[in-house]
Amino acid sequence: MSEDVRPGLQDVVVARTEVATLDLERERIVVRGYDLLELARTVRYPDVAHLLLRGHLPSPEEQAAFCARLGDLAGLPDGVVDVLRRLPAGTAPMDALRTGISLLAGFEDPGVLKDPSVEAAEAMLLRILARAPALTAAAYRALHAEPVLEPNPGLGFAGSFLWMIHGRPPAPEVERVFDRILTCYSEHELAASTFAARVASSTLADPYAAVVAAAATLKGPLHGGANEEAARMFVRIRMAGGEAAAEPYVLERLARGERIAGFGHRVYMRRPDPRAVLLREDLDGFAERDPDAAVLVRCYDRVVETMAREKGLHPNADLPIGLLLHLMGIPVGLMTPIFLCARIAGLGAHVLEQRADNRLIRPRARYEGPTDLRPPEGFTPSRC
Ligand code: ACO
Repeated sequence: MSEDVRPGLQDVVVARTEVATLDLERERIVVRGYDLLELARTVRYPDVAHLLLRGHLPSPEEQAAFCARLGDLAGLPDGVVDVLRRLPAGTAPMDALRTGISLLAGFEDPGVLKDPSVEAAEAMLLRILARAPALTAAAYRALHAEPVLEPNPGLGFAGSFLWMIHGRPPAPEVERVFDRILTCYSEHELAASTFAARVASSTLADPYAAVVAAAATLKGPLHGGANEEAARMFVRIRMAGGEAAAEPYVLERLARGERIAGFGHRVYMRRPDPRAVLLREDLDGFAERDPDAAVLVRCYDRVVETMAREKGLHPNADLPIGLLLHLMGIPVGLMTPIFLCARIAGLGAHVLEQRADNRLIRPRARYEGPTDLRPPEGFTPSRC
């Protein structure tokens, strides 16, 4: 057994995968052979989900069938919304979504739930993927005592998602950016949440359990929770005076030893995250249409400049996405749930890969505590 301890598993390779790689030399995210950013520019999120879960981009016939299936499965089973309405009003939407995914497992055929085949897992993952947007929007609306809206598959996956959140069809340019965000979030190799899903899957737990494990892991501010923190930061900077307040805000937080959400990345760290580079372009569209958005985009640029100068750090995807979702009018509490909804395709692909060639993931720890302690003489066992 190797005694080499690698905190955070930094640079440790723990799986072979055909799903994705982060090509640092060429600054590309390669998903099943394709450049993720090119996919974000040229195809739609459901095409990427098909690519991830089924291994290839869909033919026109497959595309029609896949979209129809996503639409058919998009509604929530009877009773789910009632349970969501019973959650305490202060429940975080991410916790409600995680709870809702657990709940959906109970609506699955028990035989299918226990079926260890790749085919059964794929069918379940498709159901989770299709229902996650309705679950997300319903959870938020139920927690705010608002009417829950049915999916509107005629608007497409991204359009229906926004419809269920806002209660109106999105403007085409907003829907296009939202779809691009979903693609940018769809897959990113062994992110902590995807690794958690693979660990759960390696015990032969069902895909619902794997997605719940991923949801729990994604919630943290060092991972998916960073998009919400980034959005809050821009709102605070605007309230503190806008563009002129951006640099002092960052400097003060750094002086206190705090981290700025949306910067740094375990794999990229001192290099640009290609998703952030692409999505910065989308901020311009909002700035051109809306003077308030233009102020926030200037704040964004000042924060980026300050972090580059002070820490040599680049934005990760969560920085532009936090601001873009805010500019679309998405409530902050829905930002990390949206990340999870998009990532279900990618982590689902990893779950399928784990199932196809499974070995229990069970690493070791190097023990550094005492070894020869004994209960003190006369120690009385507790009575509970
Ligand atoms: N703000 C300020 N300093 C930072 C930041 C940041 N966002 N990120 C890293 N650093 C600094 C650390 O303080 C550390 O400095 P030091 O060497 O002087 O102590 C150095 O950079 C290395 O940081 P580590 O924590 O060792 O790097 P690690 O790989 O463990 O962490 C992480 C990566 C968690 C993403 C980190 O960059 C971070 O906390 N970022 C903010 C949260 C965030 O944006 N998360 C989203 C990740 S991407 C995603 O989920 C889509």
